Amino acid sequence: MACSRGACAPLAVAACVFLLCAVATVVYTSSSLSTALLAVSGLRPYIASLTTNGSGGTNVGGSLHTSLHTCRKPKLPPNPLPPFYCCPPASSSSEPIHFTLPDPAEPLRVRRPVHAVGEEYMAKYERAIALMKALPHTDPRSFYQMANIHCAYCTGSYRQTTHPELDMQIHFSWFFFPFHRAYLYFFERIAAKLLGEPDFALPFWSWDVPDGMRMPPEFANSSSPLYDPVRNPRHRPPSLVDLGFVGVESNRTDEQQIQHNLRTMYKQMIGNAALPSLFHGQPFRAGQSDKPGPGTVELSPHNTVHTWTGDIALTNVENMGTYYSAGRDPLFYPHHSNIDRLWEAWREVGATHGYRGHVDFTDPDWLDSSFLFYDEESRLVRITVGDVLDTEKLRYKFDGVGMPWLDARPPTTSNVSKNKALLKSVRFPLSLHKVVTVEVRRPQVLQSTQEKEAREEVLVIEGIETDGTEMVKFDIYVNAMEHEKVELSGRELAGSYMCLSHPRIDGTGKGMIVETSMRVALNELLEDLNADGNETVTVTLVPRHGKVKIRSLRIVYMVE
Ligand code: C2O
Repeated sequence: MACSRGACAPLAVAACVFLLCAVATVVYTSSSLSTALLAVSGLRPYIASLTTNGSGGTNVGGSLHTSLHTCRKPKLPPNPLPPFYCCPPASSSSEPIHFTLPDPAEPLRVRRPVHAVGEEYMAKYERAIALMKALPHTDPRSFYQMANIHCAYCTGSYRQTTHPELDMQIHFSWFFFPFHRAYLYFFERIAAKLLGEPDFALPFWSWDVPDGMRMPPEFANSSSPLYDPVRNPRHRPPSLVDLGFVGVESNRTDEQQIQHNLRTMYKQMIGNAALPSLFHGQPFRAGQSDKPGPGTVELSPHNTVHTWTGDIALTNVENMGTYYSAGRDPLFYPHHSNIDRLWEAWREVGATHGYRGHVDFTDPDWLDSSFLFYDEESRLVRITVGDVLDTEKLRYKFDGVGMPWLDARPPTTSNVSKNKALLKSVRFPLSLHKVVTVEVRRPQVLQSTQEKEAREEVLVIEGIETDGTEMVKFDIYVNAMEHEKVELSGRELAGSYMCLSHPRIDGTGKGMIVETSMRVALNELLEDLNADGNETVTVTLVPRHGKVKIRSLRIVYMVE
């Protein structure tokens, strides 16, 4: 860990942040654009991501593990749909076996896109789901139990083995990609075993390429086992998926929607995903509270596709639109197969385009953390993050569908940041119920090309607090006070925070607050906006859905 200046946390943190002292001058745009006053918020220096959401106590750090012995009732949102319990069945042996890689002589499964794979192949997936659904609920390979795995890892059913008072939650952190990869690995092998087809591979729903941007019709046929009645009826095919969906139908043309989707993909895969923690999510170690901060792709398109699929008329947007029930929809698995493919794509783009930061963490706390699954022989297996980094070793790969979003670097809109005179002051923490503009001072103006290659300038939005039962979205615009004028998904729309509804009841009957953070990468953005030489960055926060509080904004430089 090399920190040339400033303070670094003494622990082995993957995200080493240096060059502190981002002081934000805080200004506020009222909808009437009244007279401006500037105020300065008293922000504390930013130390490192490790400290931002931890329990703050001693004894924090190390890899995270879970155990069947401490699995308990989930925390469910109001008016949940049954079942109300999601811990896996007890294992016949007392302890899980350790995962071993499959025989390298096994056939390499090839995961193919749903829209291009053909009927015969989709019929296999359909049969696999039917076979899983036909197993008794007590069978760990049954569809019922497969769906429950997701519930158990995101509703507080599983505890942290070393800190049973704390939840294991695999979203909102660096476990997002590896957990879901391991989950699909076992799902796929169980399907192959039940089908008696050793090379069976999960199809993927490639909503990131124009030909895949609709719900595949196989899933909308009400007599198919792939059908789930608990979905948004408006989003049956041929409705185009909206990768920025948050409950409101847009009136874009198909062409505009495709462009919007591709630009969103570009931002989440390239512009905003320049470092391991920006793409994967923030470090989450034993003894820390959960949800330290999600990565780009988890926020959108991952969360947005979940919400787009679920039934918006239900309190919690079941099944896909909320964590506890998402795995009950057979579309969940092809959706996550695509998410898994994007992890491969992110690394591949890094290698082919020279993006230095598109590499995985090497932090042992990440690599050694583990999850529990039943395998195709109904054995309980403990698998680590380090076990799932190489898909070929896991004996599968993805068929190419192209990456059309690589060329979708969004355009800038001119003259949208001219109204600095029309501002008034505001203080943090901030309740975001109106559009707010914050001027954030950059610790260093005009980085050299060399500096930019070595580190990423990052806007950190800390202490994002929302009511757990609500779906929440807000947009972050940079240097665009007149954000309404920004082109559809234009460059100035730097990022969006988006989260699914969460459990409300924490066991004591009290309401539950979600607290997390978010990051927006600035190197490429400021270059495109021609703002490299500016002393400040103007950040406009636009609430879109739900209530949200924000503790602070700051700019830091990150090296990973
Ligand atoms: Cu674990 Cu797509 O959520």
